[in-house]
Amino acid sequence: MRRGAPQPASGQGWQSAPTLHEREDFRDLVACVNRAVKSVLEFLRIGHDAFEITGCWANVLPKGAAHRTHSHPNNFLSGAYYVRTHPGADTINFHDPRNQTGIIRPPVVELTAENTDQVVVNVRNGTLLLFPAYLQHSVDANMSEQERVSLSFKRPVFLITEHLSNPL
Ligand SMILES: [Fe+2]
Repeated sequence: MRRGAPQPASGQGWQSAPTLHEREDFRDLVACVNRAVKSVLEFLRIGHDAFEITGCWANVLPKGAAHRTHSHPNNFLSGAYYVRTHPGADTINFHDPRNQTGIIRPPVVELTAENTDQVVVNVRNGTLLLFPAYLQHSVDANMSEQERVSLSFKRPVFLITEHLSNPL
């Protein structure tokens, strides 16, 4: 897909068009994502008869490239599938979604699960993560010499034609 595309500037990543889920050669991956989403929605006791992927795109982060903190509005779930990771390019950060916790942050003398404002998840090739679309997340700069490749997708949950929820 990148053939012929201009080389990204230093420290910048490359993203594909957000319609990979519509391509025939992504059918198996989409089926896998659909199964995973179905199991998450069952776990949450949320109806899953009519949902769809609203966007799926590839991310390539060369050395030094990062993803700033963001969420995916107007979707219910977000996800990422990791195609190619390397030591130094194998984590994603999830940030505390409670805005009020930022009102005061006294100095942390020892970082623990109870006082941290983010969770760092280690990923590897083949990891599929699903998370609430409202959850802010970011990716640190790639510290390896090689490209980090992942696929991102987002999905709302629809009940026929009506949004069940409007929170990826
Ligand atoms: Fe994202």
